[in-house]
Amino acid sequence: MKVLVTGGCGFIGSNFIRYLLTSNRVPSNLQVKNLDLMTYAGRGKNIEHMNLANNSRYSFVKADICDPVVVRGIYNSFDPEVVFHFAAESHVDRSNQNNAPFKTTNILGTQVIAEEAKHAGVSRFIHISTDEVYGSIKEGSFLESSTLNPTNPYAETKARAEEEVRKIGNSGLGLDYIITRSANNYGPYQFPEKLLPLFITNLIDGKPVPLMWSEKNPGLNVRDWLHVEDNCRAIWYVSQNGNAGEVYNIPGDNERTNIDMTRKLLYYFGLPEELIEKVPHRSSHDFRYSISGDKLKALGFKHEHLALDHEVNRLCSWYENNPEWWRPLKK
Ligand SMILES: NC(=O)c1ccc[n+]([C@@H]2O[C@H](COP(=O)([O-])OP(=O)(O)OC[C@H]3O[C@@H](n4cnc5c(N)ncnc54)[C@H](O)[C@@H]3O)[C@@H](O)[C@H]2O)c1
Repeated sequence: MKVLVTGGCGFIGSNFIRYLLTSNRVPSNLQVKNLDLMTYAGRGKNIEHMNLANNSRYSFVKADICDPVVVRGIYNSFDPEVVFHFAAESHVDRSNQNNAPFKTTNILGTQVIAEEAKHAGVSRFIHISTDEVYGSIKEGSFLESSTLNPTNPYAETKARAEEEVRKIGNSGLGLDYIITRSANNYGPYQFPEKLLPLFITNLIDGKPVPLMWSEKNPGLNVRDWLHVEDNCRAIWYVSQNGNAGEVYNIPGDNERTNIDMTRKLLYYFGLPEELIEKVPHRSSHDFRYSISGDKLKALGFKHEHLALDHEVNRLCSWYENNPEWWRPLKK
């Protein structure tokens, strides 16, 4: 079986490729092609660092998902049965500064990669989306059927990308597709601009950590933390067991306020709260993300990395032990 992974040099994509090539839950004859443009967030080094670059079942092509001619050529020559579409611009703060690359990659790129998948006769297209498409919720959790209400440019383009997949899937020859919406991922190989790797790598150097703060809301925003290995397992599981045309939430089942998470890190490194640098909340800073995992559980999926304190300690230790991976990425 052959699978194409877009964005496989990024955080989740590279962890997913590692899962495909090393897990005994995945057929051992699976061949993986990684299509990635290697933007600032994409690093061939992830795959090298995982000792997978020379794996005979792995190949890489540097390409832009927005280029239909190149994408068509890749589909024709590799002929994948399943596509896992991770490639995206993924950082909310960057989308607030300039949303142009988000519109191009996340909307147009998804259109191209899905449309060409349909022409190529791909058996299943797995589109990776986010819980941010629902927007914020004060109490309770969003179901897959809840109305989407994205509040930042990143989330808006991800919601539009889902629409494109649905449109392409439901028109003409049709495309068998599934959409996953996962919570905030954490784990190794995450670019140190996102909260956990940014804070951990700052604290390793004894530097302050910028926590969004106001008198009314001193770091109280809530995120649901999903270990990247559980996300990768869930995405593969859904690709094998999910139903065509369906959306599956992938929660972390570990909601914490940002101040709680920050205190965990300070505790791990034995550092004082004075290192919290209070910065203003960004405009449209969603207060709480929460998604229900009932549909995924009903499909038979179980998380394996729910011990958040233990996992966060493991993560801190990974960054401590792998400075050659992250130091070149720090400003
Ligand atoms: N990180 C999270 O917590 C999270 C949560 C939910 C959903 N997601 C989704 O998961 C996916 C992966 O997220 P991530 O955190 O690994 O992102 P990332 O920024 O680490 O990686 C994105 C990858 O896409 C590649 N890419 C960007 N533009 C491209 C283009 N035009 N053509 C080909 N490749 C291109 C980059 O080079 C990079 O390797 C995204 O679709 C994101 O929306 C992420």
